[in-house]
Amino acid sequence: MSKVDVSKYFKPDLKKARKRSGNTIKEVQFGLSDAYQKIGVNKTYMIHTYGCQGNEADTETMAGILELMGFTKAETEIKSDVIILNTCAIRENAENRIWGELGRLKAYKRQNPDLIVGLAGCMAQEENVVERILSKYQHVDLVFGTHNIYKLPEYIETALFSKERVIEVYSQEGEIVENLPKVRNHHFKAWVNIMFGCDEFCTYCIVPYTRGKERSRSKDEIINEVKELVEENYKEITLLGQNVNAYGKDFSDIDYTFGDLLRDLDGLGIERIRFTTSHPHDLDQKTMNAMRDSKHIMPFFHLPVQSGSNAVLKKMNRHYTKESYLSVLNQLKKTVPGISVTTDIIVGFPGETEDDFLDTLDLVEKAQFEGAFTFVFSKREGTPAAQFFDDTPESVKKERLYILNDRINHGYLLGNQRFLNRTVKVLVDGTSKKNDKVLAGYSEHNKLVNFKGDPSLIGQIVNVKITVAKTWFLLGELV
Ligand code: SAH
Ligand code: SF4
Ligand code: F3S
Repeated sequence: MSKVDVSKYFKPDLKKARKRSGNTIKEVQFGLSDAYQKIGVNKTYMIHTYGCQGNEADTETMAGILELMGFTKAETEIKSDVIILNTCAIRENAENRIWGELGRLKAYKRQNPDLIVGLAGCMAQEENVVERILSKYQHVDLVFGTHNIYKLPEYIETALFSKERVIEVYSQEGEIVENLPKVRNHHFKAWVNIMFGCDEFCTYCIVPYTRGKERSRSKDEIINEVKELVEENYKEITLLGQNVNAYGKDFSDIDYTFGDLLRDLDGLGIERIRFTTSHPHDLDQKTMNAMRDSKHIMPFFHLPVQSGSNAVLKKMNRHYTKESYLSVLNQLKKTVPGISVTTDIIVGFPGETEDDFLDTLDLVEKAQFEGAFTFVFSKREGTPAAQFFDDTPESVKKERLYILNDRINHGYLLGNQRFLNRTVKVLVDGTSKKNDKVLAGYSEHNKLVNFKGDPSLIGQIVNVKITVAKTWFLLGELV
């Protein structure tokens, strides 16, 4: 690596990332200039993705850009010319895993000094990560964040030809870039971004810093993308945003929110519409009514609650109470009968007492969740909760997680049991991981269903009669 002028680096700044500008976000169209179109010919790439569906969608864009530059997907790491890790910063253990992966890539770089190793995604937005890369991970050639994926062609060119380290992370969002190419990972299920960023600032969470201000894509862009997917025979779309219920709240010229978007998308001819994630505080009746009246919006809702204690919810800055959450949830269940609801819960938030935890268990009991992602609180540098006093021993937190998971698993089972002897519609994903004679797919309520059938059914929606309900899956017979 030649000596470079480090003053040229654009490094992240968490304080800046916290600021929210009142600027109207412009929309620009992506285009690849001729100069970049042949750079990747006879070269290959590989991208490893960590974290949420937002990152999976970003990886599809990175792959799209690289393929437009002439790169093809590598079969193995050893044969790759470019390897990018698209990272997640949500919890410490997620990051530790990625540091391990980065260390592992050092060996490939030694074997092939021309290999470009890149770090992208949410970790790249963190100051301490970039400092550590600069001082200890000399084999990383390229670091770029979540706001400038569209500039990948320039970065790759510089990294390949000038052999300079490229470190370019913006701490604040720029325009919404449309017309980005995508190589979708799936042939009948697709991600569709409807908004970027998050303005909720839950005190434990790094996402508002790594993804910037909440900004919605124009409804026309979304509708056009979904129309194209219908033409390409896609069966299912999942609308993505950190808080899809805030969709459209940033529009100054039109009154158009998430419920309106759902209604418009329902009529486009896509078989299944899902979305993630929702914030309980922004979930409105208009959205619930759109679900009730629609043909294609699936009867499934992921509604993260985080805690059942009002004191903890307040410290988390969640803007609702246990009671108001249950009331929204009941309203949802009343409006969309039979809907399946799952959630996210954090245990061991700083200052969480035994009573607070019991409130969470009580809420779990009342809410009858049919599944949950559960976590032990993880300190994220730069977030308010990292400074909160925390004297609960790690062993107590782990025990709480264990007890909680037990209750949650019971909910999974009850949720599955309600489909016994019923016929459900399954979108067939592929063969079961355990047995290639068995097909696997998801029902409308997002339950994993296994059944015997011909692989030619993959990609189709079929009727399956449920004969066995286990905690993690249903078994059935094709009808
Ligand atoms: N925007 C989404 C998802 C955010 S990340 C939402 O609000 O629902 C997914 C989940 O990770 C969160 O719901 C939360 O339960 C968990 N999480 C986020 N930050 C965390 C932290 N610092 N420690 C432990 N869990 C965390
Ligand atoms: Fe994080 Fe809260 Fe935003 Fe979800 S809503 S991304 S938990 S700040
Ligand atoms: Fe992780 Fe960033 Fe998603 S922190 S969960 S990849 S928004």
